[in-house]
Amino acid sequence: MTPAAEAVLTRLWAEDAAQRAAGLPSAQRTRNIDRETGRFLNLVARSTGASAILEIGSSNGLSTIWLALAAQEAGGTVVGTELLPERAAEANANLAEARLSDVARVVPGDARTTVGSLEGPFDLVFIDAEKDDYIAHFGAVIGLVRPGGLILADNVVSHDLSAYQAMLRARDDVETVTLPLDRGLEYTIKVG
Ligand SMILES: C[S@@+](CC[C@H](N)C(=O)[O-])C[C@H]1O[C@@H](n2cnc3c(N)ncnc32)[C@H](O)[C@@H]1O
Repeated sequence: MTPAAEAVLTRLWAEDAAQRAAGLPSAQRTRNIDRETGRFLNLVARSTGASAILEIGSSNGLSTIWLALAAQEAGGTVVGTELLPERAAEANANLAEARLSDVARVVPGDARTTVGSLEGPFDLVFIDAEKDDYIAHFGAVIGLVRPGGLILADNVVSHDLSAYQAMLRARDDVETVTLPLDRGLEYTIKVG
């Protein structure tokens, strides 16, 4: 962790907490991952040496910063995706403030379109967009994940993602486990 990144993360968590305390509707909140989930993403990426990382649903870039810190250590990069252009702009400003612009960028637009223009292969994909779209996002990215690569998806305990979890368990090209960390992470490995 660098002092610049720590300062941005601390500010973003305070803003997220204030939005929740004010009872803002979810569409107006940044809906960032919790601190332990951020740490976990960072540790998994570092321990697997992930250098090519893709994020689906970056919001204002808090989770992107955790992933970028890991990618930086591996000499790699993170491509983030964010539907809302103003959020993507915020994310890129936050990455700049965290001194991670040379490691990560967030591309505005629907991830399903953005992903179509990417080459891969990716070592790690983090899915954290709208929950009804997880199956579609998985379908768009799985061909870009290297064998042995990871697909992590947030909110599988806080939300009903049973269709996503059942889809994974019915496939023979992935192995998966549900981790009850914070809002719940689905930890999936592409085999083969
Ligand atoms: C839960 S928030 C992401 C929080 C972020 N991962 C973090 O922890 O800092 C979900 C974000 O996904 C974005 N989103 C929703 N559908 C999307 C799509 N199809 N493509 C890209 N981003 C999308 C939303 O605009 C929202 O900002």
